[in-house]
Amino acid sequence: MNQIKRKALIAPSLLAADFSELGAQLEQAEAAGADWHHVDVMDGHFVPNISLGPAIVGACQRVATIPLDVHLMIENPDKYLEAFAKAGADHILIHEEASPDLEKSIAHIKKLGCKAGVVIKPGTTVKSIESILAKIDIVLVMSVEPGFGGQHFMPEVLPKVEQIREWIDAQQLDCQIEIDGGIEQDTIANAYAAGVDVFVAGTSIYGHPNGIYEGINLLKSQLA
Ligand code: DX5
Ligand code: ZN
Repeated sequence: MNQIKRKALIAPSLLAADFSELGAQLEQAEAAGADWHHVDVMDGHFVPNISLGPAIVGACQRVATIPLDVHLMIENPDKYLEAFAKAGADHILIHEEASPDLEKSIAHIKKLGCKAGVVIKPGTTVKSIESILAKIDIVLVMSVEPGFGGQHFMPEVLPKVEQIREWIDAQQLDCQIEIDGGIEQDTIANAYAAGVDVFVAGTSIYGHPNGIYEGINLLKSQLA
């Protein structure tokens, strides 16, 4: 299998942060060793919840010194790609289920100068993204139903991660596997073993009772 230990990246999810002191929270996450800021955009249509839009991405961009990983849980994402790129998104991730022409959307994201990612919900098969893996920078496997933070990790998605890892390694593709939902101390190691590179975590970092630093450190300690 993997002879060399894969590098694991931590992407704290802003959704669980204290929005009244957003800048300070982002700075604390970076000081604690965050690799990317994960930013969840929800429109109340593709998912039942509403979160934030390009203005907040712009505010994050002004303080962030690490990549902004923008997860679009919205209908008709094509309409908003430019707005998020202009606001400062470094990565734009679109849902397979919301994108009628994935290839076209991916090409558009890259043309805007951003890294492009595709997200699949727990019920979406890996077949739907197999042919596009060579053209994307990130594949994000949801390990909860998108829409809310603080849900329980769904271990049944891990075989999908294993399959994607196999395809990426076999073809030596330059594509990172990200996982999102319910990542905490007890679930991160299994996800890593299945082949994940990037771990999104909201509640277990921003919501950690002992603070952001402790949250990130506890996650990393499971991978040491
Ligand atoms: C859910 C979002 C996640 C969420 C993760 O739809 O995509 O990024 O913030 O939160 P936790 O880590 O609390 O499951
Ligand atoms: Zn997310």
